[in-house]
Order: sequence, then C-alpha cells, then structure tokens
Amino acid sequence: MQAKRIEPDRIELQKGMAQEVADRIEGRGKTYYIETYGCQMNVRDSETIAGMLQQMGYSPADAKETANVILFNTCCVRDHAEKRLLANIGALKERKEADPELILGICGCMMQQPDVAKKVMRRFPFVNFVFGTNVLWRLPELMLSVLNGERLILTEEEGFAICEGLPARRSNPFSAFVNITFGCDNYCSYCIVPYVRGRERSRSLEEVVAEVRDLSDRGITEVTLLGQNVNSYGKGMGEDFADLLHAVNGVDGIRRIRYMSSHPKDLTPRLMFAIAENDKVCHHMHLPVQSGSTVILERMNRRYTREGYLKLVDDLRRTVPDIELTTDVIVGFPGETDRDFEDTLSLMEQVGYSAAFTFKYSPRKGTRAAEAADQLPEAVKRERLKLLNELQARKIAENNMKYLGHRGEVLVEGFDRRQETILFGKLDTFKMVYFPGDEKLLGTYQRVKVTQCARNSLLGRME
Ligand code: 5AD
Ligand code: SF4
Repeated sequence: MQAKRIEPDRIELQKGMAQEVADRIEGRGKTYYIETYGCQMNVRDSETIAGMLQQMGYSPADAKETANVILFNTCCVRDHAEKRLLANIGALKERKEADPELILGICGCMMQQPDVAKKVMRRFPFVNFVFGTNVLWRLPELMLSVLNGERLILTEEEGFAICEGLPARRSNPFSAFVNITFGCDNYCSYCIVPYVRGRERSRSLEEVVAEVRDLSDRGITEVTLLGQNVNSYGKGMGEDFADLLHAVNGVDGIRRIRYMSSHPKDLTPRLMFAIAENDKVCHHMHLPVQSGSTVILERMNRRYTREGYLKLVDDLRRTVPDIELTTDVIVGFPGETDRDFEDTLSLMEQVGYSAAFTFKYSPRKGTRAAEAADQLPEAVKRERLKLLNELQARKIAENNMKYLGHRGEVLVEGFDRRQETILFGKLDTFKMVYFPGDEKLLGTYQRVKVTQCARNSLLGRME
C-alpha cells in the first residue's frame, strides 16, 4: 500500500467513517491483545487502538496466548526497549506456524522510523503489518487489507495530523489520560521524540474540554493532560496552558487535574498562578531536569541553566507551597565529567524530588548527541546511575518522613489481598498511600491519615 500524504493539520473523522470500514471486518467472536511499551502517550494510543478493534467486533483477550490479533505498541526512547521487543516478536514464530490465522501487527514510535520498520518486516516474515504512531486512525483500512492477505508497512513521514473523533477503550473507569499536544519542537540533542512524533501541535481548547466533559459524564473524576511539553500548549493559538487549566477546572464532576510533562523553559509565573488558583489542579509537577550541570544542559539544548532551574523551583514552591516535584535525569551524557555529575547529585540533594526516573544516556541514531565524539564508557554510566539512585532513595525516605501524621484525600486506585485487604491510591501530591479497607471503595476518595513510612510509599488508615 502506498502511504498517502495528508495535507491538513487536522483530520475530522466524519462520524461513522471509521465505523463504516470497521463494519466490513468480521471480528465478532475473536479477540485482541495489545502489548504496550514506553510512556503514557503510548498507553493512551493503545486505548484508541483497542477502541477501534472493538468497533471491528473484536473483544479483549484474557491472555496473549489465546488472542487472535496481537499488536505491539513500541517505544524507541532508549535502546533496551528495542532489544526486548525484537525478542518478544521472535518468540511468536511458533505460535504463528501453529495458527496461520493469527494477525500480528507492530506499531508505535519505533515503527515511525522507516529503516526500523523495514528491518522488522524483513527479519520477521510472519508479521502481517507495521504502522507508525501518526497513522493510528487508518487501522480499520489496514486490518481490512491484512484480512485480504496483504503484508503492509505504513509510516507517514509527513503530514502529522491531529485526528479527532476516534473511539477509545479506556483502561480505567475513574481516571483518564487526555492528549492536549502531540509531538515536540524542542529537539533536545539526545532525544528521538521530535523525529518520530513530529512537530508540536495542540488540540483546540474546545476539543479538550468537550472530551473532559464527556469523560466526567461517564464517571471519570481524575484527568491527566498529556503532552511532551504541556507548558507550551496552544503555541500560536491564542490560548495557553494556564487558560486550559482554568477551562478544565470548570468541568463539573472532575475532582483532580494532573498534567505531564512540563519543560522548565516554558514554566511561566502565569502558569504557577494558574496551578495555585485552580482548586482541582493537583499539587504535583513532573519537571524533568535531565542534568544539574549548566555545561551539559547547554549541550543537551535544554535552554535553561542550573541556576535558572533552581530559581524556578523556588518560585514555584513560593507560589504553591506544598507542591511535590518529580523529575527525569540522564547520566553519562557525552562529555559529562565527574564534576558535571557531581553538579547533578548536588542539584538532586538540593531540590529533594519525591520521585525520579533515572536513565543511562542511550545514543539514538539521527540525534545530535549520538554523533558526539566524547561518548562515555558503559561502566562509567552504570556507576553514576548507581550513585544517583542511592542518593535518590535516601531523598525519598527523607521526603516520606514529612508525611508522618499528614491527613489528606486519596483516590483509591487498586487493592491487594493479603491477610487483610490493602487499598492503595495517591494523595493530591502524587504520593502513594497503602491502607486497610474494603475493595468496594475502588474509585472513591477517602480521607486518610499517614501513620508510617515504607521505603517508597506511605502507610496509613482511613479516618
Ligand atoms: N537516553 C537516555 N534517556 C533518554 N530520555 C530521552 N531520550 C533519552 C536517551 N537518548 C529520557 C529523558 C526523558 C525521558 C522520557 O526519557 O530523561 O525526559
Ligand atoms: Fe524529547 Fe526534549 Fe521533546 Fe522531551 S522536550 S520529548 S526530552 S525533545
């Protein structure tokens, strides 16, 4: 199949258009299984894929082993995801030999790289189709062609359009992800996202609010607004992220608004005030720092300095006193000296994040940093990651201590059956609390008092 170029930057799917193609597929009685790798964007995309498969009549499989359609939604931000994926596809060869009707598809960011997509098709002749993140909406057509015996690759290189009106099968009945921007324009020198997810584009404020309203009507009380950099929402549109927070705050039935991720360079005082002023906006910000060294930040093209970041943290804590910060950090970026790494450690010490995702730098083909001559040996990266994680574990324990005796509201997200049933859920600040209770309370908000600190979480009881 030839990839068609899409001209407009928005596609309004006529109501029923996807359904029309979907109706020609006889999925009834058959099942699907989606394996998702990577970030929340991918989790959200998988919900759309599931929604479309259900339109075709398929229902969710209990396990991968029994599914009639298996899709892998891939990630390419770091290299170990790629290795794991290839092993997992390879493992399905025998299954496909035993059941030639099995449909196997690979999609997501990794497949948005045409050379990788071709490699997967060549190496695994039993894979039926491959498609990129930006052509999700064409899944019904793709499935139809596959059912007619074609093998296809579809990765749109241009025309990254926003597609409204797609169905979704939400994985959680009380908390939902809502896309607000797609793609990224920042070109951090280590990052592949702008190449695979395309230029940054924002959904209209009306579309976002309408989706949140619809979710609220269906019983959702917590929304997480998603974008690679939510802080630059609406660039060139007249309305910014602060306006969006005000608007979503006005939707009846919604009790919590979360958002992810925030780029420090676009964190304005206006946005800080919007967080403070809107009562439903949670007091947690994921604010990736990446490095504590100004020299490395410059080479990463992050467009802020160590001092600038620390000042933001101060301003933010002054505006929203109990806000918790979480972050992403990369160690072993090309040219990172011991001194640079110590700057990262001291920044982590100073800020005191409540959680941090820490990564070894992983060169991504096509990015600027991958071309640098001063790549660091694996052993140095490994050692630095270990030291960083030790420091962070100590900071989490310290941070947890301040919650002893704290009272707050928790949205009950799940439960564990041990000797007694233990419920768990997060405080407004994103801290996880475990406490005894009845599983019927799933999806409700409970007032909890923190009575004890575990290594990564808090223990408490309902009041
Ligand atoms: N190597 C290591 N970590 C990376 N990240 C993005 N690209 C790379 C890379 N090439 C991390 C960043 C980002 C998070 C989603 O993944 O910390 O914030
Ligand atoms: Fe990648 Fe930087 Fe964009 Fe985040 S802001 S997706 S790290 S380029």
